Amino acid sequence: MDGKVKILLVGAGGYGHMYVNAILDELYKSEDYPIEAVGVIDPVHTSPSYIRMVEAGVTEYDSMEQFYKDNTADLCIISTPISLHKEQVICALKHGSNVLCEKPAAGCVQDIKDMIEARKQAGKFVSVGFQLSYSQPVLDLKKDIINGVWGKPVLIKSITMFPRSYKYFGRSGWVGKKYSRNGVAIMDSIANNAAAHALHNVFFILGKELNRADMPVSCDCRLYRANDIETYDGVSAVFKTESGADILYYAAHPVEHTFGPAFEFIFENGKIALGIDNKNVVGVFSDGTVKDYGNVGGHLAKLFGAVDTILGRGDKIYCGLETVLPHATAVEMLDREMEKGNVMRFGGSDVKTVKMKDEDGIIIKGLEEKFLQGFKDGVLVK
Ligand SMILES: NC(=O)c1ccc[n+]([C@@H]2O[C@H](COP(=O)([O-])OP(=O)(O)OC[C@H]3O[C@@H](n4cnc5c(N)ncnc54)[C@H](O)[C@@H]3O)[C@@H](O)[C@H]2O)c1
Repeated sequence: MDGKVKILLVGAGGYGHMYVNAILDELYKSEDYPIEAVGVIDPVHTSPSYIRMVEAGVTEYDSMEQFYKDNTADLCIISTPISLHKEQVICALKHGSNVLCEKPAAGCVQDIKDMIEARKQAGKFVSVGFQLSYSQPVLDLKKDIINGVWGKPVLIKSITMFPRSYKYFGRSGWVGKKYSRNGVAIMDSIANNAAAHALHNVFFILGKELNRADMPVSCDCRLYRANDIETYDGVSAVFKTESGADILYYAAHPVEHTFGPAFEFIFENGKIALGIDNKNVVGVFSDGTVKDYGNVGGHLAKLFGAVDTILGRGDKIYCGLETVLPHATAVEMLDREMEKGNVMRFGGSDVKTVKMKDEDGIIIKGLEEKFLQGFKDGVLVK
């Protein structure tokens, strides 16, 4: 394309601050990325990042409809609550924009399928913001796995211990909710939000193509709840996938110490670690040879990838809507277990309030140790 890539940002507060900083501090200052932020939309005008966009001269709009009435955008970035994603993605596509939508794409599989239909009709791309799927070391490892360098998967392990305070769970009305007020699926749980990357990445790494992920076919799990939410804030699970792999997944908020997201990918020809000792992807073959794929990096590659793709520098949309269907399917499997009552609720002497950084939060006594041991031993503990 000629000229600048026109970017509309929908949702500038919360995680949207990352996009505001990326646009103003990285893209604007880079000669390689000719872009122009042509609009910002957020009902809350008081966040520092919203104010920063306006002060940088970006035009404010009340709604996407108002923006699209007289304007176009090559890329619409959506960083809003989950229940709004489907409607906003479809709106952007209908008005001719490519889309970078924050993860998770939606609260249920059907909503993602509806978005796929809209994308096909529009002939544009929709990228989903799981940043690990845009990380070059992860992509390089995936290429080696696809090419058979590591042999068949034996066990794929993932663990995320993310202490989160009472304040975190009270930060927005949609946190920990199953549905929005108008019935749109949110299913905001640890597996669909804070540790969604850690769940998506295990299916992603086993995808047969660079922009595909392996599909879970069964799930054995136990869900945990300590905070005052509708869903769950802890999970231990084993998934079997379409390609026959076993995936062990641990994630919890009611714990005292941060660990991960950490992965161990055990294959016939060796093991690959990520996030256990550092943020490098490091493989060790059975004969002791080490292959260091490098540091996974930060959050910007997904944005650069979208702009590069629009500029005709190759297809860099490694995580599209089809790519995230396995993660959404896994979350639905967990949600079905939740609806069946497979949730252990904790209170009384089983829990205690501790400091998480400088805020209070709840922990389930012994959960952290239990999950870390299960991860180390490669077994499911419930
Ligand atoms: N990739 C990551 O590492 C990462 C990290 C955090 C959050 N996220 C994702 O980012 C998304 C937003 O999460 P959050 O924690 O920032 O949520 P949030 O509720 O804190 O903030 C969302 C922002 O959207 C704005 N908003 C609400 N309704 C809107 C509308 N109709 N139009 C435009 N803006 C609107 C809100 O005012 C707020 O500024 C979620 O999908 C979340 O999972 C991703």
